[in-house]
Amino acid sequence: MQTPVPRRTFLRQATLASAACAGIQFLAPRVFGANNRLRLGVMGVNGRGSDLVGGFTRLADAEIAYVCDVDERAIAKGVKAAGGADRPAPKTTRDFRHILEDRDVDALVVAAPDHWHGPATILACAAGKHVYVEKPACHNPHEGELMIAAARKFNRVVQVGTQRRSAPQIVEAIEKVRGGTIGRVLFARAWYTATRGSIGHGKPAPVPAWLDWELWQGPAPERPFRDNVVHYNWHWFWHWGTGELGNNGIHALDLCRWGLGVQFPRRITSGGGRYYFDDDQETPDTNVVTFDFGDKAISWEGRSCQRHGFEDSSFGAAFYGDQGTLVTDGSKYTLFDAQDKPAGTITGSGSDAPHLQNFLDCVRSGARPNADIEHGHKSTLLCHLGNIAWRVGRTVNCDPQTGHIVGDKGAAKLWQREYRKGWKPSV
Ligand SMILES: NC(=O)c1ccc[n+]([C@@H]2O[C@H](COP(=O)([O-])OP(=O)(O)OC[C@H]3O[C@@H](n4cnc5c(N)ncnc54)[C@H](O)[C@@H]3O)[C@@H](O)[C@H]2O)c1
Repeated sequence: MQTPVPRRTFLRQATLASAACAGIQFLAPRVFGANNRLRLGVMGVNGRGSDLVGGFTRLADAEIAYVCDVDERAIAKGVKAAGGADRPAPKTTRDFRHILEDRDVDALVVAAPDHWHGPATILACAAGKHVYVEKPACHNPHEGELMIAAARKFNRVVQVGTQRRSAPQIVEAIEKVRGGTIGRVLFARAWYTATRGSIGHGKPAPVPAWLDWELWQGPAPERPFRDNVVHYNWHWFWHWGTGELGNNGIHALDLCRWGLGVQFPRRITSGGGRYYFDDDQETPDTNVVTFDFGDKAISWEGRSCQRHGFEDSSFGAAFYGDQGTLVTDGSKYTLFDAQDKPAGTITGSGSDAPHLQNFLDCVRSGARPNADIEHGHKSTLLCHLGNIAWRVGRTVNCDPQTGHIVGDKGAAKLWQREYRKGWKPSV
């Protein structure tokens, strides 16, 4: 069982944290209740969040205490996903701070857009909640570092939504890569391909009656509402999103970094552009990134508007050893021997359940979860560094001990962002 932070210490720490500026009234974490289910509040339920509501509801030892969204139509989706014969109906709110103030809630699940991941996680930890936060871990590298600090300072479990970290067949694949089955592995390739359309040219528009645009923006400096951002398209604007690298690259890059056993890169190159459509999208639709770790390397290829992938899959990671190759599409893996002949395929489920269960188990035991925020930060950092190198248009060099950008003030400026008044996170 995670030791609750003593009330007095907790209140003092919480006051020190920027959480205070968000106007949250802090309470000590609860003692688990009679049915012993962990009680979760889910923030952002339009798409992924409703999947998580359903996923946690299907587990015996969790229940959804709150469904939270700033879009009242999305709330209805989340409530529906929480429906289950033996589960009480969740409370609903548009403001996640109500969840943080409720002493009967154990954890916050963050499936709001990327610009919320860091600030909401840090506030939640300071309020005594454990956090399941969707990938990418954060919107910029500085937030990732603060999230680790918050998790450690408040002794909270923070699991990032890179769910393949808990899939048994993927764990087995990575063990094979790391255990020498394909010999010395010095290079891994990550990729994602899709056929996304144009997001067009948005125009200023009245804020829809169903949306709290103020709270959708939250920590991001305020902008007038435009009609091609909410929902989902925010992924393609640097102000809120992290592009295809942060959206899908993170999953495959996390596998590559895990398999190669590498931490921070030394040198990053990133090429490509927004080639397919003339529209408002700021992030590239065609992107090739290389990460040099000194003695090993990873490459990422993202094609958002052309589907043909590699190895018969639109998503994957491949590990190239001197005694063979291992390829995974994220749910199965195939081995190739030293003669490059197929040597067996192991299939498995793509279910999120093991990852969600691992989170609950760690909340109870206090153990570090499979996708602890430190792993999440390091893998997400690869996405940020690829984006930064693309945005500045030159090779970026990093300190391999910390991942910090060296010798480039322009690139280093993108390590963090500006915040709206009252929302700057600190720990
Ligand atoms: N792990 C995975 O496989 C996986 C899959 C899909 C999405 N994701 C991640 O989940 C997140 C959400 O993705 P999506 O596709 O559902 O996006 P989306 O835009 O469809 O939904 C985001 C929801 O968050 C809500 N929201 C915004 N601000 C909020 C706030 N302050 N409080 C409560 N709700 C708020 C929005 O109104 C919207 O309903 C993204 O970060 C994405 O990268 C992860």
